[in-house]
Amino acid sequence: MCNAGPKADAITVPVIAVDGPSGSGKGTVCLELAARLGYSLLDSGALYRIVAWAGLEQGLSLEDGAALVKMIATLEISFPYSAPGAGAGEGNYEICVNGKSVGDALRPEPVSVAASRVAAVAEVRTALLSLQRKMRMAPGLVADGRDMGTVVFPDAQLKIYLTASAEERAKRRYKQLIDKGLGVSLRALLDSIRERDERDQTRDVSPLVPAQDAIIVDSTHLSIEAAVQQILEYAEQRGLSTR
Ligand code: C5P
Repeated sequence: MCNAGPKADAITVPVIAVDGPSGSGKGTVCLELAARLGYSLLDSGALYRIVAWAGLEQGLSLEDGAALVKMIATLEISFPYSAPGAGAGEGNYEICVNGKSVGDALRPEPVSVAASRVAAVAEVRTALLSLQRKMRMAPGLVADGRDMGTVVFPDAQLKIYLTASAEERAKRRYKQLIDKGLGVSLRALLDSIRERDERDQTRDVSPLVPAQDAIIVDSTHLSIEAAVQQILEYAEQRGLSTR
């Protein structure tokens, strides 16, 4: 159901910041971490996708910060999350905009590319900051993104930089899209991933770089489960609650 979640808590609520490029496995790893720790989940990429999707729908220029910020103010965004044990759809979340579930509209490649364009606009990043920080709720938050450890939650108790080779990431994305019945070329995906990496890593605002105190986890040859286990071990070493 598309209703707003619980209220935000004090600043001491633990955050596990997981940053890294597209296709590193962050999405699945973060979902698993949140489910196993009983934490909330922030999919910050979905916010940039929503802005891109809504901007495209409204015919806005994806570089026009003022127009995009005005539009963001009209969007009521929520990520209702069903914790494991909650029944149907448990351990998963919906992406809702103005009361409607929009998750599927955000995944096609043109929206991915548009998301990385609006993400390079400083005003857009600022407009989304408080929304992201409001998601820090007890007992904890797993924050999935590009600048979680560097900008949004610089005081996160654990910072992970999850990465993988561009070829491996393109293969994973190819499989995901083919499984969903969407036709794509592997070559085009690799080009799109490289284009997005380049833009994300070289932009002036919040470029994709590991935080100085981040632990690098390379998932090129790791299964999702192995990556999750590694991160849970780091969480335990930091005294973060595991159920
Ligand atoms: O993670 P996802 O692929 O859904 O993110 C879509 C785009 O949003 C990324 O390519 C990136 O440009 C942008 N993004 C960002 N900062 C974040 C999360 C995503 O710039 N914290």
